[in-house]
Amino acid sequence: MCGIVGYIGKKQAAPVLLDGLEKLEYRGYDSAGMAVYDGKQINIKKATGRLKVLNELTHGGELLPGTVGIGHTRWATHGEPSDVNAHPHFNADRTIAVVHNGIIENYLKLKNTLIERGYKFLSETDTEVVAHLLDYYYKKCKNPLEAITKVMHRVEGSYALGILFSDEPDVVYSVRKDSPLIVGKGKDGNLIASDVPAVLKYTREVYFIENEEIARLSEDTIEFFNVDGETIEKEPKMIEWDINAAEKGGYEHFMLKEMYEQPKTVRDTLNPRIKDGRIVIDELGMTDEEIRAIKKIHIVACGSAYHTGVTNKYIFEGMARIPVEVDVASEFRYRNPILEEGTLVIIISQSGETADTLAALRLAKERGIMTLGIVNVVGSSIAREADKVMYTWAGPEIAVATTKAYSAQLIAQYLLAIKFAEVRGTISAEQVAGYITDLKKLPDQIEMLLNNKEKIQRFANRYIAAKDVFFIGRGIDYAISLEGSLKLKEISYIHSEAYAAGELKHGTISLIEDGTLVASVVTQPDLYKKTISNIVEVRTRGAFVLAITNEENTEIEKAADYVIYIPQTNPYFTNSLAIIPLQLFGYYVAVGKGCDVDKPRNLAKSVTVE
Ligand code: AGP
Repeated sequence: MCGIVGYIGKKQAAPVLLDGLEKLEYRGYDSAGMAVYDGKQINIKKATGRLKVLNELTHGGELLPGTVGIGHTRWATHGEPSDVNAHPHFNADRTIAVVHNGIIENYLKLKNTLIERGYKFLSETDTEVVAHLLDYYYKKCKNPLEAITKVMHRVEGSYALGILFSDEPDVVYSVRKDSPLIVGKGKDGNLIASDVPAVLKYTREVYFIENEEIARLSEDTIEFFNVDGETIEKEPKMIEWDINAAEKGGYEHFMLKEMYEQPKTVRDTLNPRIKDGRIVIDELGMTDEEIRAIKKIHIVACGSAYHTGVTNKYIFEGMARIPVEVDVASEFRYRNPILEEGTLVIIISQSGETADTLAALRLAKERGIMTLGIVNVVGSSIAREADKVMYTWAGPEIAVATTKAYSAQLIAQYLLAIKFAEVRGTISAEQVAGYITDLKKLPDQIEMLLNNKEKIQRFANRYIAAKDVFFIGRGIDYAISLEGSLKLKEISYIHSEAYAAGELKHGTISLIEDGTLVASVVTQPDLYKKTISNIVEVRTRGAFVLAITNEENTEIEKAADYVIYIPQTNPYFTNSLAIIPLQLFGYYVAVGKGCDVDKPRNLAKSVTVE
């Protein structure tokens, strides 16, 4: 995700901003910029690439004199990485500058309204809409705080904003909704930032800004207001973290931090694509005719991304009645696949740079087949080369073991499947409404599972010395088992395998001994009985069975030794919930073994070689 910083005080602002942005680099970014008031006007410098480029461009900040400024590291969501799309963004008069972290969900509607009012846009970003909207309201009310509150009432989505008004040059404004924002009270000036690491060099006295709160910073004062412009009081906190802990937001590992970001990344991937009770995937640019003309889908990916494809095979076929084949990319690219006219190849990749997946995309394109990329990194190779692209707005994922990007990949495919089924008329309007209702509940349900982690954490501590762990399930539960098994083995180095539950008796069951742990995923009501009979098979051979199942599954207590329940949702979407205890299980086993959870041995975050 993006990072914002701001400073007002006795020092030259630009070097302070550069230092703060450097402390936010771990968040991942593709461009950076600063805006500083020089006593007469706001000057902006911004550039694609690493912070070093901006540092050199501004001679370490010297070319941006002034003691009031805002800065930004951009993780592209709307508009490719480029100088024009980099923040800060200006209004036309260059009297208002804005930096933003988050996603303005209704930016297209606001942009069109502003264009009708004569506003011209330079960038493809959602953020530039905020700069012009502030201009629009400020020209009406001539009061920066009032203009900000009016913008807050119009904008939907998530934002942490840093704002400069050249008409009020001795103030930095900042406002928050859903994206994190802090204010630091320093002895030589005051600061804003997306995250604590950016201010620790200057202060440990920090205010955590809550949703729809506004901060107004001068050199010596910090004031807070609510969304109606009324003054509010806030208490500062003293930060005890060291810089390393602060980068992880106080979590022990990036992986745990990213697991806890899953409610937000599910919301960020879902909400902009549900408008007035309908699924709207504008960025796809696929006509209804193109959707109706799809005869077959190939889903191609690697690792966890592949597992989301296995899940959605059941959903595309179940909802839209489109035949689906799922391939690991390293197989697809060499098996001379049969790709007939009317085939859609869906390529899934968090990094957008996985070599085998990129090769699979290129093979499909060589065959003249339409390709759709589901990608997390804007401007990555797969995002640029696919015919269509749908982003998973999960923000940068630092831990090698994917969690939040995986969850966002599931959501993107759910939305596609519902959209395709609705256009092809294989589901009713009532079914669409029901699916949307269930999807919108997922973030809170994920949060509830994460906040009740103790039971799975205690269970994990019992299996730190395990040698073999098996995961079993049928249908979508088999796909969940694949990911649960990968999470465990890739970070704890414990051997693990996932099996279609009905397949055990064809060989693998010979491996079950006294005390072997079998994790069974049982979330598909029409398969409960079948999977329970497989649980009984392994238990009679000595296995200890952990079951992950729905709250309403009363049968399971008789069959399994240890049960973790997930909240009720549509059977199509249970992967989004059942994977949470399995992520936590793998994480706590790995932590218990003292493994390097964020950087497991032998692994890379993006496998850019064959
Ligand atoms: C999963 O935890 C791993 N990080 C790995 O399996 C990953 O999903 C796979 O390498 C695909 O990466 P991509 O999504 O960036 O293409």
